Amino acid sequence: MINYMDDLQLAELEHDVQQHGKPDLSFFETYYPKLSRSPEIQKTYALISKIARSNATVLIQGETGTGKELIAGAIQAQSLRAQQIYVTVNCAALPEHLLESELFGHERGAFTGAVSSHVGKFEQADGGTLFLDEIGDMHPSTQAKILRVLQEQAFVRVGGQRTIHVDVRIIAATNKELWEEMESGRFRADLYYRLNVVTLHVPPLRERPEDILILADYFRRKFAAEIKKVVGDLDEETRQLLSHHAWPGNIRELRNLIERAVLVVNPNHEITAKDLALTGKDYFAAGGRDRRREERRGPNLHTLNLEELEKTAITIALQRSKWVQKDAAALLGISARALNYKIAMHKISHSTWRKNAVPEP
Ligand SMILES: Nc1ncnc2c1ncn2[C@@H]1O[C@H](COP(=O)(O)OP(=O)(O)OP(=O)(O)O)[C@@H](O)[C@H]1O
Ligand SMILES: [Mg+2]
Repeated sequence: MINYMDDLQLAELEHDVQQHGKPDLSFFETYYPKLSRSPEIQKTYALISKIARSNATVLIQGETGTGKELIAGAIQAQSLRAQQIYVTVNCAALPEHLLESELFGHERGAFTGAVSSHVGKFEQADGGTLFLDEIGDMHPSTQAKILRVLQEQAFVRVGGQRTIHVDVRIIAATNKELWEEMESGRFRADLYYRLNVVTLHVPPLRERPEDILILADYFRRKFAAEIKKVVGDLDEETRQLLSHHAWPGNIRELRNLIERAVLVVNPNHEITAKDLALTGKDYFAAGGRDRRREERRGPNLHTLNLEELEKTAITIALQRSKWVQKDAAALLGISARALNYKIAMHKISHSTWRKNAVPEP
């Protein structure tokens, strides 16, 4: 197989692995831009290094697991504030009232349970960088307050009077399409435009398939080095499977899959399809949870023969709708009459159907 990492200093990789903390960040910053074959990724990196050294607010958008947190860290690490404090807060993790106090702090007695005053994340990040993760999940009232800090670099603690001035660089991330959130009224337009000074769109893994095997090989080496196990390459079938998987969980999913494969593969052996926990294929027909996930995602195309695909789609739709033809037709986006015709054509039958049953309109 093509050995993607041959031209890299593997010693450096091993060094990364030994460094506790952020091993991925180093790979991500040092190697990935050089290794990636995706023009989108190249563009993203070029932009990262251009904007890192400014104080501009950065918004990172991308599906779950695409590496937004890593990019935020990389921007901070390359910024003029690299040596200053880096504070991160997950806006989705806290209920509304706690989030405000978490961000802006509170005075003693501000609310029941506020027995002492609390310094919020904005104050903690003074002089440095604040990473607001999952910003698309924020309540409108918090959005209004964030907008004010962004505009004035000033805020008031919950239950407080005094205006506190800070100097904070903001990096925000979301896996929602913020434009759509704004259009539908869930995200404030003024905050959207304020955040949207520099936006990085991280493409999902399925849109950069040229990078799948590069990353897979990196994770294989990384996890093998971590547990000091000699692990062979990915065999041909495995590489085919990885290349054609849809990766709804993006790089996180790939990472977890390879970590597991490295654990279960026999030492000194190649990684084979059975070492992967990918579902959908016959030999992966295990795990109920994975199968449910697979169902949501839709079937893997085992053939391109349209007639066979149609029969498969109809059968799956019928199974999901408990063999009620009317519901299955709705799932398939065709009329009940058309479904009935196709059922006869494909000779599909089920014990719960009366002989010659005609679906209700
Ligand atoms: N280019 C990359 N190189 C190495 N590891 C990566 C890369 N991109 C992402 N990862 C890894 O994938 C996982 C997910 O990345 P990260 O947490 O940054 O995703 P995210 O976009 O913030 O996801 P979410 O929206 O779910 O929070 C992490 O373990 C991260 O280290
Ligand atoms: Mg994240």
